[in-house]
Amino acid sequence: MTASTHEAEVRPPGSDGPWLEVRGIAKHYGGVKALRSASMDLLAGEVHGIIGPNGAGKSTLVKLLGGVESADTGSILVDGSEVEMSSPSVAQQHRIILMPQELSLVPESSIVDNIVLGSEPTVFGALSAKQARRRSASALDAIGLDLPLSAQVSDLSTVHKRLLMLARALDRAPRLLILDEPTAGLAAHEASLVMDTVSRVVAKGVTVIYISHHLTEVAKLCNRVSTVREGRMVDTICGDDITKAALVERIVGSDNATHPSGSVAFDPSTVTSPPDRSSGLQVEGLAGERIAGISFLAPRGSVTGITGLLGSGVAELVSTIAGASRPLRGTIRLDGIEENFSSPADALRRGVGYLAGDRTTAVVPEMSVRENVSISALSRWANALGIVKKRRELSATKSILHSLAVDVDVELPITALSGGNQQRALVGRLVASEVEFIILDEPTVGVDLAARQALWDVIHELSQTRTVIVASSEPDELVALCDQVVCLKHGSVAQVLTAQEINQNAITHAVT
Ligand SMILES: Nc1ncnc2c1ncn2[C@@H]1O[C@H](COP(=O)(O)OP(=O)(O)OP(=O)(O)O)[C@@H](O)[C@H]1O
Ligand SMILES: [Mg+2]
Repeated sequence: MTASTHEAEVRPPGSDGPWLEVRGIAKHYGGVKALRSASMDLLAGEVHGIIGPNGAGKSTLVKLLGGVESADTGSILVDGSEVEMSSPSVAQQHRIILMPQELSLVPESSIVDNIVLGSEPTVFGALSAKQARRRSASALDAIGLDLPLSAQVSDLSTVHKRLLMLARALDRAPRLLILDEPTAGLAAHEASLVMDTVSRVVAKGVTVIYISHHLTEVAKLCNRVSTVREGRMVDTICGDDITKAALVERIVGSDNATHPSGSVAFDPSTVTSPPDRSSGLQVEGLAGERIAGISFLAPRGSVTGITGLLGSGVAELVSTIAGASRPLRGTIRLDGIEENFSSPADALRRGVGYLAGDRTTAVVPEMSVRENVSISALSRWANALGIVKKRRELSATKSILHSLAVDVDVELPITALSGGNQQRALVGRLVASEVEFIILDEPTVGVDLAARQALWDVIHELSQTRTVIVASSEPDELVALCDQVVCLKHGSVAQVLTAQEINQNAITHAVT
């Protein structure tokens, strides 16, 4: 740590001036100019927010700082001296630690092994399991996370995996902690664990870069906020200028106040045809490891939300309905017919499409954007001999992506898309598959403000004739999308809110 707690209390952030300077750094991938030019400086003890639309270049910028990628031009100065951030280990020598946007853990290893990975403690050259455990316990403790150290990472929830990545970053004693969308997919309570942790580390003089689409968090936490648009750092605001309204304007742009397709917010009260209660997806007495006796009907022609705090059973319920976990008891009926799915692929064959909450498991990294969208729908475009008509596949894929406001070269590898655009492409996969039952777990994770609305419009459109279930930790999303919300508490249904009852307060009240 660079400053004692006492010093931090009496000195405002950055009273020594900037210790890190970024001058005109740029990065391209083939013909794509991911980052055209970014300059910024960082002060000790500040939280520096970075905001901007999907694909703006935010992650690219911090990958250059964290040594994950090398800049084409420009320079990075630490304490006045230029440093070539040629690898993550060079960055780590300067205590610049990046927590990346996508989950990056070793699933078959334990929590301890993941925390110390790459910086294992040794005593006289031998690995010290005792020190590794001590360090891990203190990193988890710094976040307020109580997890068994020897647990295997693959057994953790997506939320705990994200928090574990934060613990790993903290374990490196950062001078600059870079958090790329650290609260994506986290409910309010878990997000506050992250924000409290940030407040604690900056009080000790650590500098934090905070990238987020959650503008309320950014407004609350950050001393300065820089905006990236189309690969350029356009401005930096500070202090009282950082209001939610100012941030929204910077993301959406005053010339582009509605989303790209120009549609307006969906208001559930305007739905004219009532949902059909005789068909849809019916869950009865469903029980598993953490859920017990869950029953509800998700009627066709509507959106059913599922929500609850971490550990309330939402993750298990959704993965059970989608065929990714087996129930201990209970039944799932599709339009009245009982089903027993052995896997998500089996569920898909019977018309249930599933977007998992952790997109890293859903993306097929070695495939193109087109292939990732069309992978579960190829039979749609095949002729009688089973040969896929490429032209039909291509035009359908393009039009689906266009409706999701993703206008990219569809032959690019999916990994060339920004996080938010990958997420949209995965929703596109479900649109393409034309399944009758759609289960979306956190569909708008990492998606920017304007595109979030576009995605909601698409989900609403899908729900006109199908059964849609959306698990979400974000009350505003549930309010915008759902015709009913199933609220879970301690593995059981606490309340089912009907269309008229759904509001943010009622949701918060029901799940806590
Ligand atoms: N490996 C790559 N190959 C080709 N293009 C890439 C690659 N990585 C990123 N890009 C492109 O660079 C641009 C910036 O991407 P970046 O991931 O930095 O965006 P972002 O601001 O972090 O967006 P998001 O909010 O969605 O996370 C995008 O157009 C993206 O498609
Ligand atoms: Mg990003």
